[in-house]
Amino acid sequence: MIASPKPRPGILDIAAYVGGEAKVEGVDRLIRLASNESALGPSPRAVAAYRALAGALHRYPDGGSIELRQALARRYGLDAARIVCGTGSDELISLLARCYAGPGDEVIYSRHGFLMYPIAAQAAGATPVPVPETALTADVDAILARVSAKTKIVFLANPNNPTGTFVPRDAVRRLHAALPSSTLLVLDAAYAEFVTRNDYEPGIELVEEAENVAMLRTFSKIYALAALRVGWAYCSAGVADVLNRVRGVFNVTLPAQAAAVAALEDVAAVDRAREHNDIWRPWFERELVRLGLAVTSSVANFVLVRFPAKPRDADAAFAFLKSRGILTRGMRAYGLPEHLRISIGLEDEMRAVVDVIAAFLKT
Ligand SMILES: Cc1ncc(COP(=O)(O)O)c(C=O)c1O
Repeated sequence: MIASPKPRPGILDIAAYVGGEAKVEGVDRLIRLASNESALGPSPRAVAAYRALAGALHRYPDGGSIELRQALARRYGLDAARIVCGTGSDELISLLARCYAGPGDEVIYSRHGFLMYPIAAQAAGATPVPVPETALTADVDAILARVSAKTKIVFLANPNNPTGTFVPRDAVRRLHAALPSSTLLVLDAAYAEFVTRNDYEPGIELVEEAENVAMLRTFSKIYALAALRVGWAYCSAGVADVLNRVRGVFNVTLPAQAAAVAALEDVAAVDRAREHNDIWRPWFERELVRLGLAVTSSVANFVLVRFPAKPRDADAAFAFLKSRGILTRGMRAYGLPEHLRISIGLEDEMRAVVDVIAAFLKT
């Protein structure tokens, strides 16, 4: 018998990431609230920039994403040389895990943190270490208690997906101050632009001060370009050098770079998206509480909601919503089987989801 190729040890232990559903047979108008995508959609300027490149598809993109990095540097007051763009921030999460952790090393993440962290750690051959949370929020002291000489990376999604909670600036600083300088702190601020709290800071300050911090951002959320897969890291020169050695040479496509630059320049579109979220997330949270459901207070563009016991549990709610064309996200993979995560959509979508949940609770 011919032996088939075997992947490295541990690869087959990975439970593949399962994204939100996007289709339901027989339903024409779907309400898609499963993937924390933008409610309002992209800036028309970004769409125009994307379309304008239709005649240049035979050209390779700029492998260094120079214009995009310069636009990011201008917009956020950063050093362009220490920005690295990626095929979504997912690519950067995987690369950081692969470059800084391996067999025998540990990668810490909070228990209900973004699932790509343990997947990326396992793919790198490292051991993912989930740390318990307090009130569905990353717990700095619990994380520090688990740090050892083996800890190569601490991943902190801030705000966190799927809980929607965040760790305030001072607590992030306390976490960083107590970490060994050999441990990389990755602050994944995918939802930063939605946060309106003055005790929040996405990680720029710490990146400017320390060699062992990387901040990750994305164009998939408030900039509404999830289909194009653009993310970026801001980090020390040393970390940027490492990422630039291993990333795909042409990892961000030409139309994606152009659309991202245009999206960045359309500040009014981002403001509209934030204002929409500031109205409809609190409205949705209030409505859910009015229906008697437990809601985790969120600072992002989604809400984690807890359902009662059978027969009105989260699985039944998911199926009921889906049968009416509303897609939400089940949370079993995150260790939160009693919950659904529901993204903030348009006004009529939010009203529809509240009506359907109300009907479900009366079944
Ligand atoms: C916390 C967090 N980080 C990263 C990502 C990945 O984003 P991207 O589309 O840039 O790969 C997501 C997407 O849901 C996320 O929630």
